[in-house]
Amino acid sequence: MTLEEKIKMLNDYAASWYSSSQADFIHEATFRAQGFGKFADLCKEEGEEELDEAKKCTERVLALGGQPVFGCVEQPIFCEIKDLLKDWDDGFKEFKGVEELEKVAASLTDDSITRKLVESFVECESEHRAWVAKHMGIIGRIGYENYLIEQMG
Ligand SMILES: [Fe+2]
Repeated sequence: MTLEEKIKMLNDYAASWYSSSQADFIHEATFRAQGFGKFADLCKEEGEEELDEAKKCTERVLALGGQPVFGCVEQPIFCEIKDLLKDWDDGFKEFKGVEELEKVAASLTDDSITRKLVESFVECESEHRAWVAKHMGIIGRIGYENYLIEQMG
C-alpha cells in the first residue's frame, strides 16, 4: 500500500466511524426515550468507541503527513431495536468489515504503528459483531417482547 493509499484509507475509515458514531448517539437517545435504557447504554458505548476510532484515524493521517478530509457516510436510523440489530448483523455479514480490517492489518508489514491501530479496530469491531450476534440469539430464544422487557431501565 502506498502512503497516499494509506492516508485515503484512514480518511475513509474516519468518515465512516464519525458517521456511525452519530447514528449510535441518535439511537441511544431514541431508545432511551422509549424506556429501553439498557440498550441505550450499549448504543452510547458503541458511539463512544466508534468516535474514538475515527479520531485515531484522523490523528494517524496527520502523523503520516497527510491532510484530514471531511467525510460523511449516510446511515440508516431505526426506531425499533430489532431493526437496528438486524441492520448491524446484515452489515457485518454482507460487507465483511471485520475480515476486511484483518486483511488490511496483515498487509501493513512496513508500518507497525498503523498495523497496531488497525488491529485495535479489528478487536473493537469483533466485539461489536459478537454482542449483536448474542442479542439476536437471545431474541430467538426468548422472543422479542421478553427481550424488550430485559432492555428496560
Ligand atoms: Fe462498531
